[in-house]
Amino acid sequence: MSVCIGIDIGTSGTKALAINSLGNILAEASSGYPCYHPKPLWSEQDPEDWWRATVRVVRRVAKAARLKPADVAAIGLSGQMHGSVFLDKHQKIVRPALLWNDQRTEAECREIEQRAGGRKRLIKMVANPALTGFTAPKILWLRNHEPRNFDRTTKVLLPKDEIRRRLTGQFATEVSDASGTLLLDVVRRKWSKPLLSKLDLDPDLLPRCFESAEVTGTLTTQVAKTLGLTTSCRVVGGAGDCAAGAVGTGIVRSGLLATSLGTSGVVFAHSDRPQFDPTGRLHTFCHAVSGKWHLMGVTLTAAGALQWFHDAVCTAGAKRATRSLYDTITAEAQRIPAGAEGLHFLPYLAGERTPHLDPHARGALIGITLKHSRGHIVRAIMEGITMALRDSYEIMRELDVPIREIRASGGGAKNPFWRQMLADVFGKRVTAMAADEGAAYGVALLAAVGAGNFKNINEACRATLRSAQQTRPDAKMRRTYNSSFPVFQDLYHALRDEFPRLEG
Ligand code: XUL
Repeated sequence: MSVCIGIDIGTSGTKALAINSLGNILAEASSGYPCYHPKPLWSEQDPEDWWRATVRVVRRVAKAARLKPADVAAIGLSGQMHGSVFLDKHQKIVRPALLWNDQRTEAECREIEQRAGGRKRLIKMVANPALTGFTAPKILWLRNHEPRNFDRTTKVLLPKDEIRRRLTGQFATEVSDASGTLLLDVVRRKWSKPLLSKLDLDPDLLPRCFESAEVTGTLTTQVAKTLGLTTSCRVVGGAGDCAAGAVGTGIVRSGLLATSLGTSGVVFAHSDRPQFDPTGRLHTFCHAVSGKWHLMGVTLTAAGALQWFHDAVCTAGAKRATRSLYDTITAEAQRIPAGAEGLHFLPYLAGERTPHLDPHARGALIGITLKHSRGHIVRAIMEGITMALRDSYEIMRELDVPIREIRASGGGAKNPFWRQMLADVFGKRVTAMAADEGAAYGVALLAAVGAGNFKNINEACRATLRSAQQTRPDAKMRRTYNSSFPVFQDLYHALRDEFPRLEG
């Protein structure tokens, strides 16, 4: 048997799944951990929690699939992007990791642009502007605010690469996740020495950078024993969760675009060449497909905004959240007319990336009247999230990114009502894949390439992925959303200058 395991170090938990050589899932498991917000806009996690969860889920998967140690040929790693794990010379964690949705580094973003000689020059070097969530500003924040911790730091790793270090003893990353550090020359697919020097950062802080399906190491003797696997089990580069999720939905050739409705929302397009938005609203990153790139827009709070409403408002006081309450509130929303009778929602609960690049942006429910019910609010929330994704899609159209097919993925896209809304708001047919196992599945496929089960990732996707449902846009709904989309866009601009004042 040539089994491969995909592991995704997510923000709410770690998921692992095992696939056989045909790509069929044998078993899966997940395990959660907390996220800490010691100050407003801060977001941190303990890398030790990721490791404990990884050991737990891999063991559970191996047990459920009744795997013998030698069955597992390779492991692929995926994870939340941009997070910073600071390690000292003894490979001890220096402080909790700062995460992708942490917004504390606005001053460091300005410092980076200034040291680089302006935003345009920076985009030339690393294909992207400095955004608060990215890794480089986090390193500068450590230097500016916790100099003692900075002095102790000898390596900075991304979340999944910290797990790789624990698995293999190697310091390594791969191009898709490395793109989100802001330190990778995305066009040449290697660390940007010119930018590192302008930022006065030692290149040795960074791990070696591979392509996503390349083998980066094998399990150490101790870890192989702990996990019940062997030391010949390979660990491939893997991918950041966005590129990994895209591989899991087959976005590995030109013309395909994915919209993902997870905690954050992502609009992701494959690109055969490095294509840029000159103003930096979209990210241009290396793809997990060797020698290819992708363009990506990120809405920081997508289905996460609906979850917030569910947890903070609907279940307030209840002991346990129930799946059925989600079904109840989304069914209420479905009975409300498109446009929610004039109610609008801005989903910027954690600031926003695409298109506003604005850490001060806030969530807002605008236009409430006595007529509006809970169903109206839920509908407005879902519509606001979907329109925030359309913002990214419109920039891609502006840049002439070829888009023949849109594939929907993520928890939110499992709901047929939300898939219909996506088709109506985008005005395009939307496909859902037969199995939507997300990033863990994408990196299990990359591992299968590394194990030699497939020639390359395109062949792996062709052999294993099937599309299931197609959802076509409804002409009337489309007209309604086309007229409310400019209102949605204008509301942000009307409020933009007020948001920083809310911070007191
Ligand atoms: C991508 C991003 C998020 C995280 C969440 O740029 O910040 O999608 O990777 O997991």
